[in-house]
Amino acid sequence: MNKEIVLTGDRPTGPLHLGHYVGSLINRVTLQNQYKQYILIADVQALTDNYQHPEKVSENVLQVALDYLAVGIDPEKSTIFIQSLIPQIAELTIFYMNLVTLNRLKRNPTVKTEIQQRGFGEQVPIGFLAYPISQAADITIVKGTLIPVGDDQLPVIEQTNEIIRTFNNIYKTNIFPEAKPLISKASRLTGVDGKAKMSKSLSNAIFLSDSSDELNKKVMKMYTDPNHLHVNDPGKVEGNVVFTYLDIFDNDKEKVEELKQHYQRGGLGDVVLKKYLFEILEKLIDPIRKRRELLAQNPDHVMKILKDGTEKTLKVAEQTLSEVKNVMLLKYY
Ligand code: TRP
Repeated sequence: MNKEIVLTGDRPTGPLHLGHYVGSLINRVTLQNQYKQYILIADVQALTDNYQHPEKVSENVLQVALDYLAVGIDPEKSTIFIQSLIPQIAELTIFYMNLVTLNRLKRNPTVKTEIQQRGFGEQVPIGFLAYPISQAADITIVKGTLIPVGDDQLPVIEQTNEIIRTFNNIYKTNIFPEAKPLISKASRLTGVDGKAKMSKSLSNAIFLSDSSDELNKKVMKMYTDPNHLHVNDPGKVEGNVVFTYLDIFDNDKEKVEELKQHYQRGGLGDVVLKKYLFEILEKLIDPIRKRRELLAQNPDHVMKILKDGTEKTLKVAEQTLSEVKNVMLLKYY
C-alpha cells in the first residue's frame, strides 16, 4: 500500500452520468486497490448554489452513493463519507478564511466561470465564492495528497496549495502535505448534443441509471453530421458524437476504423451506426444498472455504508483538527 492519501468527491446534485464514469469513477475503482482512498459526497458544497432547494441535494446523496457502489467502488477499500456530517471541515474552513483574500477568490478561474454559468451577476453568495476554501478543508481534513479531478478543477487545487503553504508558514508547522492533482485523460466527455461537456444541467447527459429505453432514445437523438442527409452521402467523422463515443467506449478499434471509413465513403446510415453504439453502451451500462437496482431495494444498507465511512472519517477529522488547534494556540484547558 502506497502512503499517498487519495481524496476525491462529487456534489450530489443529480445521479452520475457517463462523463463521471470515464472521467473519474473508473479511476477510483483502480485507485482503491493502490491507495487509501476517501470519497466525499459534498452536500455542503452542493448547497452553495442550491441552498433554495435542499431536497435536491438531500435526495441525491443516496443516488450518488448508489452510482458509486454500482460501478464497483468497494466500501471495504474506499471510505465514502458525507461532508455535512464532518463539522471539523466547517471549522477548518473558518480558520482558512483568514488566509485568503477576497480578490484572490474573485480571480480563481474556476469560480469565475461557474459564476458566469450560474448567472449570479453581482449577486454572488459568499458561500459560493468561497467554496475553494471549504474544498481546501475537504482535502486537508484527511491530509489528502493525491486529488483526482477534472482539469476544470485545477485552479481550486492550486488555491488549496496556497492555503496549505500559508498555513504551514504562519503557524510554523508541517502538518499539511501539499495536494497533487491527478488529471484523468478523459476528464471531459462531450454531451449527446455535441455542443458541450456532458452535464445534467445542460440536458445532454446519459445517466448510469438510465433505462435501456432512455439510453436508446438518447443515442438515437445524438448529434452526428447535419449534412449527412442520405445514406449514400459521404459523412463526417470529426465532431460526430457517435464516433466520439465509439472511440472511447468500443474496445474493437479495428471495427471503429472500418465504420469510420464506411461512413466517410457513404453508404452507412446514421440509424445503423447508432444501433451499433447503443449495443456497446448497453453492454457497459446494463450490469451497472442491474447492480444499482438491486442496491436501491435496500437503501438502509447503503446508508449504513455511508454512516460507517463517515464515522471512520470523523475520527481522522478530530485528530487533524486537534493538531490544527494546537499549532493555532487554540488550547485553553
Ligand atoms: N468541486 C468538485 C466538483 O465539482 C467536488 C469536490 C468537493 C471535490 N470537494 C472536493 C473534489 C475535494 C476533489 C476534492 O467536482
